[in-house]
Amino acid sequence: MLQMLVALLTDSINYQKHALALAVGITVSHAHLLTKIVCTLVLVVAIYRCATKSTTRASKLLDKLPSPPGRLPVIGHTHLVGSLPHISLRDLATKHGSNLMLLHLGSVPTLIVSSSRAVQAILRTHDHVFASRPYSVVSDILFYGPSDILFSPYGEYWRQVKKIATMHLLSVKKVRSYRLACQQEVQLVMAKIADAATAHTAVDLSELLNYFSNDMICHAVCGNMFRQEGHYHLFRQLAEASSVLISGFNLESYFPRMARVAAIGRLLYGKARHINHRWNQLLDKLIDDHASNNTSYNSDEESDFINVLLSLQHEYNFTRDNIKAILVDMFEAGTDTSSVVMEYAMVELMQKPHLMAKLQTEVRSMVPKGEEMVSEEQVGRMSFLEAVVKETLRLHPAAPLLAPHLSMADCDIEGYTIPSGTRVVVNAWALARDPNYWENADEFVPERFIVDVITTDYKGNDLNFLPFGAGRRICPGINFAIANIHMMLANLVYRFDWELPADKADVGIDNKETFGITLHRKEKLLLLPRCY
Ligand code: HEM
Repeated sequence: MLQMLVALLTDSINYQKHALALAVGITVSHAHLLTKIVCTLVLVVAIYRCATKSTTRASKLLDKLPSPPGRLPVIGHTHLVGSLPHISLRDLATKHGSNLMLLHLGSVPTLIVSSSRAVQAILRTHDHVFASRPYSVVSDILFYGPSDILFSPYGEYWRQVKKIATMHLLSVKKVRSYRLACQQEVQLVMAKIADAATAHTAVDLSELLNYFSNDMICHAVCGNMFRQEGHYHLFRQLAEASSVLISGFNLESYFPRMARVAAIGRLLYGKARHINHRWNQLLDKLIDDHASNNTSYNSDEESDFINVLLSLQHEYNFTRDNIKAILVDMFEAGTDTSSVVMEYAMVELMQKPHLMAKLQTEVRSMVPKGEEMVSEEQVGRMSFLEAVVKETLRLHPAAPLLAPHLSMADCDIEGYTIPSGTRVVVNAWALARDPNYWENADEFVPERFIVDVITTDYKGNDLNFLPFGAGRRICPGINFAIANIHMMLANLVYRFDWELPADKADVGIDNKETFGITLHRKEKLLLLPRCY
């Protein structure tokens, strides 16, 4: 564990190694060794201080909660959580029969929630108590305070930014105003695939779908000029670099108090500051350009997010940093989440040719042959397509552990008092695969959503199906994501028939996964398209 922490810390300051060597007149390899030794010493001291057992009232209350055996000094239960935490946490909950379970992840007590009854209490009955977010220095730096939507603590400011997102940026009406942009972007992807089909070469669908999601967000954020100015490359780079820092279980989420040790904080958060500086350069220029054009915002038209936010700036008393925080959020929360859903849908369909055929029959029967594209209106009538997307969201939720919540007051749940300030993680993945609730829970069966279409939706009403969360913190991007995913999938299966490349035909698709800001596949999805 210590080795891992040192590696993380050393990595985060690696780029400063050359400067250190120059400054003290030693070689780079000596500087590296010196860096490692200093990091080890600093970490030992910091971990010791962070791990000293607390005897506060909160820790006494937490000690009463069910908690698996095997807690170790300093690292707590961290060694029980594998590289795919949603699976380890589900297995621990099943093994110890605890649907409400306390784990000590490094120095942070974390309540793991894995049953719909406990979720009902936390995201519905007491949602107002559990609707805050844990503080993190990295999100403070990357999200200006944080003053975005995703990381802002619960309160009046968060309520305002969430309202702006749901009413002005991502409402049904606003999403409809982007349908032309969506058509253009889908058309560009189809043209690339058609070229590959003509050349009989495979396409990297993972990359194409990720670029599509990123470009849709670019379009929404800064209008249709984004391609001409080449900003989309930079947006993609910055979104990727930021998500590495905020993803999953990182050093800061295990030992947040380390950030208070100035030397460690400076080193660890240097990267975040560097990325924030680059976001500033890009977003300041775009906001300046928009401000000088002085375009007014009309809710019926396709006005981009920057225009909308500038028009609302005075009414809501926003600073420029607040605007930038919301824009960064759109990239971080909206890009990978949507693209992994489209990718998994294609993986499942490739592995079940009868379902691919069924979907193609639906799509092709609704679009007159010879038409170049499936339209939004036609997509709206495709019930099997909708079921395929729902089933993909059930089996492969992009955020299997939702985003961490934080309690703001003591609260009684299932006979235990959860103290104020407790970090809460909801295992949405485990709920969506609960065999007591879902028939053939691990199998891809879209038809289940056709039979049960009335009661099952992804808007937080069904507690065993929470791909977008539930309650106050529910995702505001559902309309935007679903519209783009439906449009892209319908066109992929309408325009092309798909095969595995020759070297994969026998072995099939490798389904290994990796856990980061989203849960995604390790291997790229390479497929051979044939024009229909
Ligand atoms: C299939 C695609 C998507 C999935 C699966 C997804 C899922 C989620 C989940 C699980 C949460 C956390 C809920 C919680 O904390 O309980 C969330 C929050 C959020 N999402 Fe999405 N999301 C998607 C697309 C988008 C898009 C396209 C946008 C914006 C363009 C977006 C913006 C946000 C924001 C701003 C939040 C923070 C909400 C808050 O803290 O109040 N998401 N999303």
